[in-house]
This record gives sequence, structure tokens and C-alpha cells, in this order.
Amino acid sequence: MWCGLPSSSLFILVIVLLPLLVHSQTASLDEGFISIDCGLSSGSSYLDEKTGLNYTSDDGYIYTGENHNISAKYNGQELFKTGLNLRSFPTGGRNCYTLSPTTTGHKYLVRAMFMHGNYNGKGNDLVSSPLVFDVYMGLYFWDRISVNNSAKTYIAEVIVVAKANSISVCLIDIGDGTPFISSLEMRLMKSSLYPAAMANQSIALQERNSMGTNSLLRYPDDIYDRLWWPLKASSGLLNISTNRTIKNYPGNIFEVPARVLQTAVTSTNTSIPISFSWTAPTDWPATAAVPAYFYNTHFTDYQNQRVREFNTYTNGDLSTSDPSRPAYLISDYTYSSSQYNIDTGFYNVCIIATNTSELPPVLSAYETFYLVQHDGTMTSPEDVDAMMTIRTEYQVKKNWMGDPCLPENYRWTGLICQSDGITSGVISLYDTTNGDPCNEKSPKKKKAAVLFVAIVVPILMVAVLVSTLLLCYFCRKQAQRPEVPDTASKEEYEDHIHISDGREFTYKELMEMTNNFSVCIGEGGFGPVFHGQLKEGTQVAVKMQSPTSTIGKGTTEFLAEVENLTTVHHRYLVFLVGYCSNKNHLALIYEYMPNGSLYDHIRGKNAIVQTLRWCDRARIALEAAQGLDYLHTGCVLPIVHSDLKSHNILLGHDMVAKISDFGLSKSYLNAAQSHISVTAAGTLGYIDPEYCLSGRLTISSDVFSFGVVLLEIVTGEPPIIPTTVHIVQRVKEKVAVGNIEAFVDPRFGGEYDTNSIWKVVDIALLCTKEASHERPTMSTVVAELKVALALENARASGSISDISQGGANFELSINSLLSAR
Ligand SMILES: *[C@@H]1O[C@H](CO)[C@@H](O)[C@H](O)[C@H]1NC(C)=O
Ligand SMILES: *[C@@H]1O[C@H](CO)[C@@H](O)[C@H](O)[C@H]1NC(C)=O
Ligand SMILES: *[C@@H]1O[C@H](CO)[C@@H](O)[C@H](O)[C@H]1NC(C)=O
Ligand SMILES: *[C@@H]1O[C@H](CO)[C@@H](O)[C@H](O)[C@H]1NC(C)=O
Ligand SMILES: *[C@@H]1O[C@H](CO)[C@@H](O)[C@H](O)[C@H]1NC(C)=O
Ligand SMILES: *[C@@H]1O[C@H](CO)[C@@H](O)[C@H](O)[C@H]1NC(C)=O
Ligand SMILES: *[C@@H]1O[C@H](CO)[C@@H](O)[C@H](O)[C@H]1NC(C)=O
Ligand SMILES: *[C@@H]1O[C@H](CO)[C@@H](O)[C@H](O)[C@H]1NC(C)=O
Repeated sequence: MWCGLPSSSLFILVIVLLPLLVHSQTASLDEGFISIDCGLSSGSSYLDEKTGLNYTSDDGYIYTGENHNISAKYNGQELFKTGLNLRSFPTGGRNCYTLSPTTTGHKYLVRAMFMHGNYNGKGNDLVSSPLVFDVYMGLYFWDRISVNNSAKTYIAEVIVVAKANSISVCLIDIGDGTPFISSLEMRLMKSSLYPAAMANQSIALQERNSMGTNSLLRYPDDIYDRLWWPLKASSGLLNISTNRTIKNYPGNIFEVPARVLQTAVTSTNTSIPISFSWTAPTDWPATAAVPAYFYNTHFTDYQNQRVREFNTYTNGDLSTSDPSRPAYLISDYTYSSSQYNIDTGFYNVCIIATNTSELPPVLSAYETFYLVQHDGTMTSPEDVDAMMTIRTEYQVKKNWMGDPCLPENYRWTGLICQSDGITSGVISLYDTTNGDPCNEKSPKKKKAAVLFVAIVVPILMVAVLVSTLLLCYFCRKQAQRPEVPDTASKEEYEDHIHISDGREFTYKELMEMTNNFSVCIGEGGFGPVFHGQLKEGTQVAVKMQSPTSTIGKGTTEFLAEVENLTTVHHRYLVFLVGYCSNKNHLALIYEYMPNGSLYDHIRGKNAIVQTLRWCDRARIALEAAQGLDYLHTGCVLPIVHSDLKSHNILLGHDMVAKISDFGLSKSYLNAAQSHISVTAAGTLGYIDPEYCLSGRLTISSDVFSFGVVLLEIVTGEPPIIPTTVHIVQRVKEKVAVGNIEAFVDPRFGGEYDTNSIWKVVDIALLCTKEASHERPTMSTVVAELKVALALENARASGSISDISQGGANFELSINSLLSAR
């Protein structure tokens, strides 16, 4: 199910390169390191005893926040000296450190640590209500820090390729307490390391563990100052170690320190595997996307006599095409070049000796990372560099942090940012018309200041500035045209493309209908969803596109598509009331569905409070099928839903089911949820396996997804459960046994008509046939579901005529289905 992962193929390489072997630890190299002890008194610095690195105060990296020492009671509990003090940010929703200088295109490890230490006397509250805030790498969500223990050091680490001459690390206040930070470290890495970190994506560390040891290892043992945490192995494993030198061959993409590889664990017997597992966080903002993972394992062999060979499996699937055969005292690894994205968020890695291996597997260390998505939005790096230079020259101390233009609500005061509309880049302009952004001096002085900067900065920078100023001039001329207001905030109220239809709303109307976005009812794949009310009283759900996302924004095809969808009306489809599209905002306004989604009721937040009975579920299935059938056949051109799942079947008043989020596949959903398309098809559980081959989603792909939803409805189980097969296989296996109780949702309490269930399972298995041409149309599915519902209603009302005959037929067709496979 996961697409091919190359093996490390080290064995052969190693033989060829033996004469070239070098030690991984050559010279100590702390150039390109920045070590900030946040909250240290301004101007001070110290040499850290353990690492020998020079930690400085955050002077010059940030101008906001307050310094605090942790409470004396916690002194001594800090893992690192940097934990003794911190900087907290009681004001400002976003506060950013600017790590500089960096070199564009170079790779850096950036690490932030957080130790609360009851610095504000509120440590006791953390247990009952954790302090939660978000950390962003520039514009991109990096990690959510949830502090419930004053004595604990929380760590976030990311490997990132610099896009400009600085890297911003931003702390975002999400309303769950005051963000703070204890230390911030940046380490220059060789660009060939960690190939999964590239210009368009970063990787954030989840775990880095070292086996068979009890001490933490970092700089100077690791020249990149990675933290290798000792992990106590589970029982059944043995510690092994060596004092001999372990070598890396040149071009090794991890350069694991020799000391890490000098200890390891092994199992006692070739039939016993070594395994580790992890679970994806569940409390992240929906906008951060489901994390996709990479992992690496590291090992070598300490003996030189017998064959040691093993395979690595991820959730039961082989991860490398060839087995690993670690060479004597030379570092080796396995590494996945494509990410894993498993619906349930549970990952298990199992390392097993092959049947020809004389020795059990070994493991010295492993690292797990999740993908930090970059959605492409950013201010052009030249402009960022130019603005940072201006900021430094002026020593601007307020409000100028992070990306100058994005996200919009944190735009640097005094700047006008304009999208060039093509590459989704944003040009930052120095607004000289609107007062002094730096010191609130008079506009005249301001002009002189700009000139001054242009004179003193180096030639290259002058070129950048001049072009910036030219653009500024050009755009200001544009801005003087009457229809375009000349401040950023007014701009927000103007729509930029006009399709006169009455279904297009202005941003101002949006604010009115949502009462200034006061009631957030959820988070969609691309932004928050607000409750709203139209002037005539209709309740609506307003799906906002997050300002950092550029998907579909303003493109005429997209607007045409949306326009088209506002004409699609059906009882069992969620009505798209309208949309708002201006330069900065995109919103879709949908009919409000008060009872949540089918997912909520079967598996999600309402599953415990309110369990749908079989008769309700069968009715919901029929209604949804009718909605989908209408999409496929009721309009001039068929509309492919392309993302059907139980989350997208919503329940309105009286629990009537309606399908939502349809038809925006081309320009919207695909791009908004690109993690779906970059992931191998099928891993998400609902995706048509044929899509993997054709790359095209068709109406029969929707039929497949609908079949999966039907099985979910019957069983109450998610499509994918770790360590087992897909729901289609699971149900088939149980159907073969013929025992309905083996797969029916136990929450029905036996209250169902057996033949009704068989009927639905039969349809579901037809819908999920691998070959799309063997799947029924939705019209057929509707007809069959009507029969199934009638059977169930007959049972509920006590009439049982005709059922036995129907039942016999259904079992027949299931049997023929199974024998055909
Ligand atoms: C640390 O570095 C700063 C700036 O480079 C320097 O001023 C300071 O003296 C150094 N501190 C120590 C203890 O070496
Ligand atoms: C923290 O403690 C150090 C020395 O113990 C002191 O110099 C510094 O002023 C204290 N900082 C704050 C913010 O209280
Ligand atoms: C803090 O949160 C973690 C993770 O959610 C949990 O495992 C732990 O038990 C919590 N600790 C306390 C003291 O509540
Ligand atoms: C980044 O680019 C690489 C190819 O250069 C591609 O394989 C990868 O999917 C891209 N990542 C994202 C998040 O788009
Ligand atoms: C292996 O080493 C770790 C760390 O030194 C230790 O905690 C553990 O008990 C050892 N296990 C065995 C089986 O000796
Ligand atoms: C490695 O050296 C240390 C001290 O020199 C010694 O205690 C240990 O037993 C040696 N380990 C092996 C595997 O030779
Ligand atoms: C290895 O373990 C398996 C299962 O625990 C056992 O059946 C087998 O006899 C063991 N082999 C050796 C050589 O100890
Ligand atoms: C060992 O495993 C391979 C593939 O997993 C299989 O083809 C082979 O028959 C097995 N050999 C033995 C002796 O079991």
C-alpha cells in the first residue's frame, strides 16, 4: 500500500568505498551555530560547561516579551542550564525570533526548548488546564506545545532549508495561556544530510533515541549538536556495545556520531523482532494537516563472522526492497524517502531477522520526523532580506517580526504588501505615505531615512532597495486611482473580481453575518469555519480560507466553478449559499448543519453520547446515496465529489443527511489537502485503488468511497486499523465465515434486521470492487438501499412478510461475490 522505498543498499557501496572511509568526527565546528538562552539578562553570555558552547541573551533576536527566572523550587530540575530562565509573551498574538545570519539554501537544525519552572507562580494550574501554544517556523505550523508539568523540559526541533538570510521562529498565543521559551538553538548542517528536508518542505523531529546506553549524547560528540536520548529497551532485548571505532563512509546522509553506534540492542533469538512505535498527536489544529512521517534507523555490526540480515516493516509492510546486512563497524541505516501517512495515526516499525540470518537484528538508534508542510505562500526572500536590513539599520523595536507581509493580521505596520497574482509571491512595499512605521516621526524625516539606508548599505542591497522603492512608487501610483483604497485595511472590504449574481458577498457582509467571526464551529481542511446568519435569518456555516493559503484564490476558473456549484440544489446535498472572494479572503458560505457529521456520530465526538441505531444509519446511507446519485446524474455534467467520507456526510435538522464539500476538487480541495494527493492512494482508507494507477478520480471512485462509508456504517469501525487489513478485506473475511455478529457494530445491541444488514454489506462489497467497471452506479445503489431500509422498517414495525425469500437471495449474491474473487 505504501509506495516504494529504496533500501539503503549500503553493503555494496561500502565495499567499493572502503579505502575512502573517514571518521565522522573530524574537527569541531561550531560556526553557523546560534545559541540563545532566552530570558538571560541583556548583554550577558556564558560558556556552557557540558557543551563548551557560548550561550548569549536574546539581544538582537527579539524585542518583545519579558524576562523571568524559574521559581527557586525548580532550580536543579532543569535538563540544561538554559532552563533556568525564560522569556514570556503576555502581549501580542504572535511573537517571533529572527535567527540571523543564515545563508539561503543552507540547511539548519533549529531547536526550541520550554521549561516553565513555575516562573509566574501559576505552575499548579497546569495540571488541571495545560498551557498550550503553537510554534511556527516562519509561516508554517511546526509544533503545538502543551505544558502540564512545571518541571518538564519540552522540546521542538525542525530541520529546515533557509529561504532568506534569516529564519523566523514564532510563538502563537492560541488563547490557552501565555507562550514562553527557554532556549533557541540553530545549527548549520551539511546540505546533503536529511534529504527529506528541502526548500519546499521541512521535517520536525518527533523522537531521536539511542539504544543500549543511559546517557544523553550531544555536542561535541555530535558535531551537529543533535540530542540523542537514551531509551530503555523493552524486556527480551540485550544491550551490546563496543569500544572500537565506527566509521561513516563519505556521503552518508545522517552522519550518526560513532558514540551512538557504539551501543545497541539486539534480540536474544532470531525469531524475536525489535520494534518501536509512535502515535500522531490528536490535538493539533486542523489547519496543520494530518502529520505524515519519515523515520530512520541506525545500526552497525560488532562481529565479523556470521550472517546478520534483517528486514524492516512499517505497519506490517516491508519498508525496504532488500534486507539490511550491516557491515562490520561501518554505520548503516534504513530511511524512507517518501512519507508514511496512516489514517489512524498509529505507526509501528518492526525489525525482523530474515530466515537466512544466523544472528538476530540490531538497532543503535532511530529518529522519527513529521513533515512540516510549506504551502508556497511567502513574501519574496529578497524583500524579506531588504526589510530585515532596514529593520536592523533602524533598530526598529516594535511589531516588526516574522514575515513582513504574512499572515495578514501580523503584517508589519507601515507596509503595503501586494500579491503579484501569479506566483502567489507577495511583494513588500515600504509605505512612505502613511506615517512613520518606526518611530512615529514626521513623514518628511522618514523619506530622508529611506535615502540614508540606501546610501549606507552595501551595493547589492542598494539594488534590492532601489527596486523595492521603484515598485513602491509604481504601486503607489496605482493606489492613487480612486477605486483602490490606499491602506491595507480598507482593501479588505473591496471585492476584486465582480461576478454579478447576488451570491457573491463582500467581506463586510461576511463580518456582519458572522458577527465579526465570533463563533468558530470547527476547522476545515483549509481554515476555520464560523457560524453565521443571513439578513433574512437563515443560519449558515462560513468556511474561511486561512490567509496564508493561496489555493484557488481569485482564479477565474475557480470562481466559475464555485458559481456553478451555487446552482446545484438537492435535498440531500448541503447547499452552497454563496462565496466571498477578494484579494485577501476567500470564503464559502454553506447551509448550516446543526447535527454534525456522520463521522461524529459513529466514531467521533458524538459517538458515545448518541449512537445511531441501524434504522437511522440505513436511512442516512440511503439519503447520502441519493445526494451522490444526483451529483453524478442530475446536472448537465457529472460532478465528481472526489473526497467522500463519513466526515463529509452532514446531519441537518431532524438528522437528515446531506453531502457536503463536493465538486471543488479541481482547483480547491486537491490543492488544499495536497497531503492526500502526495500520499499513496488508499492509505486514507476511502480512496479508490484504481486512482493509484490512473491518477484520475471519477464518479466510480466516488462509488468506491461510498462503499467504504457503508462498511463504516455497518461495522462502526474506521477504514484502517493499525496492524490489520483494510475494512474491505476485514469485512470480506468475516462475511466468508457467515457470522453477522462478527462484524456488525455491537452498539446496535442486536436491534437490526439481519437481511437488511446483509443487503447493505453486499452493496458495499460491490461498490468497493477493485476494478471500477465492476462497480454499480449510484442509481443502482440507491435502489438496493431502498430495499434494505424497507426490510429494516418492516422488522421495526413488526411485519415480516417477504423477508425470508429476499434474505436467501442476498446470501446467494454474497457467496457468489466471494467465490468470484
Ligand atoms: C560569547 O559570544 C559573544 C558574542 O560573540 C561574546 O561577546 C562573548 O564574550 C562570548 N562569551 C563567552 C563567555 O565566551
Ligand atoms: C534572574 O537571576 C539572575 C541571577 O540569579 C539575576 O541577575 C537576574 O536579574 C534575574 N532575572 C530576573 C528577570 O529576575
Ligand atoms: C501531561 O500530559 C501528558 C500527555 O498528554 C500525559 O501523559 C501526562 O499524564 C500529563 N501529566 C499530568 C501531570 O497531568
Ligand atoms: C517538494 O519537492 C519534492 C521534489 O522536489 C517533492 O517530491 C515533494 O513532494 C515536495 N513536497 C511538498 C510538500 O510539496
Ligand atoms: C540496558 O542498558 C540500559 C541503560 O544502561 C539499562 O537501563 C537496562 O537495564 C539494560 N538492559 C539490560 C537487559 O541489561
Ligand atoms: C570499553 O571500555 C571500558 C573502559 O575503558 C570498559 O569498561 C568496557 O568494558 C569496554 N567495553 C568493551 C565492550 O570492551
Ligand atoms: C527462539 O524463540 C522461539 C520462540 O520464542 C523458540 O521457539 C525457539 O526455540 C528459540 N530458538 C532458540 C535457538 O532459542
Ligand atoms: C525464506 O523466505 C523467503 C522469502 O521470504 C522464501 O522465499 C524462502 O522460501 C524462505 N526460506 C526458507 C528456508 O524458509
